[in-house]
Amino acid sequence: MLKGKNILLGISGGIAAYKCANLIRLLVKEGANVKVVATKAALEFITPQTISVLSKNEVLTDFFDNNHNWNNHVKLSEWANYFIIAPATANTIAKMAHGLCDNLLLAAYLSYKEKQNVLICPAMDLEMYNHQTVVNNIAILKEKGYQLLDAEYGELASGLIGQGRMKEPEQIIASLIKHIQTHLKFINQHVIITAGPTYEAIDPVRYIGNRSSGKMGIALAEAFAAEGAKVTLVLGPTHESVKNNTITVINVESSEQMYNAFMQLIKNATIIICAAAVADYKPETTANQKIKKTKNNLELNLIKTHDILLECGKIKSKNQLLIGFALETENCIENAKEKLTRKNADLIILNTSSSKGEGFNYDTNKISIIDKHNKITNFELKSKTEVANDILNYILTN
Ligand code: CTP
Repeated sequence: MLKGKNILLGISGGIAAYKCANLIRLLVKEGANVKVVATKAALEFITPQTISVLSKNEVLTDFFDNNHNWNNHVKLSEWANYFIIAPATANTIAKMAHGLCDNLLLAAYLSYKEKQNVLICPAMDLEMYNHQTVVNNIAILKEKGYQLLDAEYGELASGLIGQGRMKEPEQIIASLIKHIQTHLKFINQHVIITAGPTYEAIDPVRYIGNRSSGKMGIALAEAFAAEGAKVTLVLGPTHESVKNNTITVINVESSEQMYNAFMQLIKNATIIICAAAVADYKPETTANQKIKKTKNNLELNLIKTHDILLECGKIKSKNQLLIGFALETENCIENAKEKLTRKNADLIILNTSSSKGEGFNYDTNKISIIDKHNKITNFELKSKTEVANDILNYILTN
């Protein structure tokens, strides 16, 4: 469940910080990528060396590192799928509840958008834990939507017995997994996606291809996987890589291979997305040997390839959602609507390639989503990751 997930661990200055060595070790063992942001006081209880060796990343404490480079807390927060703050001392809890920002941990916390994905693990002496201001501050954080893992009863650093012990690393991880399981938006979905270009061989060294990078389809695969879906990506030749290792990638080259691989997956899919720029035509025959330059004119007879989206539209069941893309340069809406009807898709994502930053090879895209009832939803120019999340949210809310 934690495989490939990015987890930011915020450590504040309490004796329980020593438990973070084990917490980091267990998170890494589960396959998570771990980065740690610690307060200066935290490093009195656990060494930066221990943290960096176990997390395989340098521990972040200051707004600037030793080379005067800015530790960008916004980027750090964007990177993290989940943010665990353990131990959360009375001081850090108070600052979080009231928006104070005098260290990097708090800056990362304030920049973190998905409140429900922040797990706060208080640890302090029992009298502090029961103090009305601490109780109030914890209530404020709960009300704001943060997850608080109640401190445990037991022996405390002061020698007293009572409630205040930080949850054990195993319990924190179990809570995180439970939280993920209940909050992921596409947990029981199997999403299959075509992406990238296809290469149609002319002879052993030449092909007909196109400039598609596969970035949009890969961004969709990553977005669905991050929301718990089982994702299978049938990917044409591209230099782009897939980061989330829970995604099953089937590498193909030609439209024929893409078609054969994809059609086998359809039966078990709940969401089918055709994002690939499949060649519409391929050479009727492929020469066995490299074609020599002997003729003045060379004619290639091209025949139609399988239209994968069209074939999916013919066999899809009522419970399957079929999504196609349309790259248009003229009569965009009309052409996209025509494709939606002809190919029996449920949604068409239109990109018009009319302005800079849209379409093939760019990291950004500007889309409109058209549904079967001709409802058109327009989006701004955004990064392909954000576009992918817009598409996921659209599916959830429409
Ligand atoms: N598509 C497909 N297989 C093909 C051609 C297209 O699955 N052989 C899918 C694309 O992945 C996309 C949609 O069909 O989701 C529309 O692709 P596009 O290239 O815009 O349209 P075409 O159907 O190829 O029509 P035209 O090139 O004439 O615009």
